[in-house]
Amino acid sequence: MNIVVVGTQWGDEGKGRVIDFLSQEVDAIVRFQGGSNAGHTVVVDGEIFVFHLVPSGILHPGKSCIIGNGVVVDPAELLAEIEALQRRNVDLKELRLSSSAHIVMPYHKEIEKMEEKQRGKKKIGTTKKGVGPAYTDKIARRGIRVGDLLNEKVLAEKLDVNFVLLPNYFRLNLCKKDILNRYLEYGDKLKEYITDTSVLVNQLIKKDKEILFEGAQGTLLDIDHGTYPFVTSSCTSAGGVCIGVGIGPTRIDRVLGVAKVYTTRVGEGPFPTEIEGREGEILQERGKEYGATTGRPRRCGWFDGVILRYAARINGLDELVLTKLDVLDKLDRIKICTAYKYKDKAIEDFPFQVDSLRECEPIYEEMEGWEEDTSRVSRYEDLPEKAQAYLRRIEEIGELSIGYLSLNPERAGLIKLNDES
Ligand code: IMO
Ligand code: MG
Repeated sequence: MNIVVVGTQWGDEGKGRVIDFLSQEVDAIVRFQGGSNAGHTVVVDGEIFVFHLVPSGILHPGKSCIIGNGVVVDPAELLAEIEALQRRNVDLKELRLSSSAHIVMPYHKEIEKMEEKQRGKKKIGTTKKGVGPAYTDKIARRGIRVGDLLNEKVLAEKLDVNFVLLPNYFRLNLCKKDILNRYLEYGDKLKEYITDTSVLVNQLIKKDKEILFEGAQGTLLDIDHGTYPFVTSSCTSAGGVCIGVGIGPTRIDRVLGVAKVYTTRVGEGPFPTEIEGREGEILQERGKEYGATTGRPRRCGWFDGVILRYAARINGLDELVLTKLDVLDKLDRIKICTAYKYKDKAIEDFPFQVDSLRECEPIYEEMEGWEEDTSRVSRYEDLPEKAQAYLRRIEEIGELSIGYLSLNPERAGLIKLNDES
């Protein structure tokens, strides 16, 4: 079975821990989009790992971990991540990197910083990892790809083109020769991992191996379906897998959507169920809601059923994975958004145009909190009745069943529900 795992909100849903858990049962884990803007956290026996480019299945020795062509790769960051993992004795023999993935260049980060500054109050709130400008160059057909790092002549020619096209301001502050040498060195260090990953993944599929496709970011950050322009620059939804890996849609069997039992967002942009003030801070503290990549505090809000239904539609979700239930443990009342009020009418479909979204007011249902510790529970049946009621309500609103539930960050803290399925 080949399974896609995507975020259903604005990222940070707990995809890393879900991938780590599901990796136990598959042969390969494949990233298909995004770059080092992602921060996927996995906790094993109290040890914390945060993955940015390396697939979150890497802690399972012997499983292929593949960075597909749809990812944008900052080679310095990838090498730093590889070296840090090697120091922790993580086996990287099965790591592979697509030769057609695009490269984040030093000027991409500079361009991003400058653009964000120039936007002033209208900034996007990006991670400043150079991801947006790298995708821009890809679409503008001047991007430099992983395979180019292995060929001095090609890399030099492509750098020449880019230096001609770069605005003066950036060009004058950069030394082409220095970049050429540095990136050739990166290529040399990464050589052992570089291959045609589309061939590799299709061969695995032919051999009936099971594959997990690891989404980064979340549906509402998708370049097409997210809250544009407050989005990332890649296709974060399930449809992005085929393009970002080089497989056909007939090769995908199942799509799992990951959601937190509340909502968070980092960066700018509308967020209808955001909780302002002290109540939001309580969720932020209990949920340790600080970015794994940038350390920025995440904005927090109630669970949004309108978003869940939207994510179900855009991704064709088969099942839901809910995370961080224990963060709500101490609340006496919990709100859940079932629809929006827009121009005096109740609407159930997510208005992804930000101008309309800004005018939406959430319509809430209030449920009683369970006020008990759920973080040590290991069976669904042992959850407080009120917690079960809350989860059932999410299933009803999303018209989706919960396949897995995460009760704490450790591997054993993820439990499988609906075992009969
Ligand atoms: P994971 O995979 C949460 C957000 C940024 C910003 C917007 C654009 O850990 O869930 P970018 O640097 O991508 O151009 O920034 O997207 N963003 C994320 N938010 N989780 C992420 O990844 C994110 N990656 C990007 O905060 O609002
Ligand atoms: Mg994250």
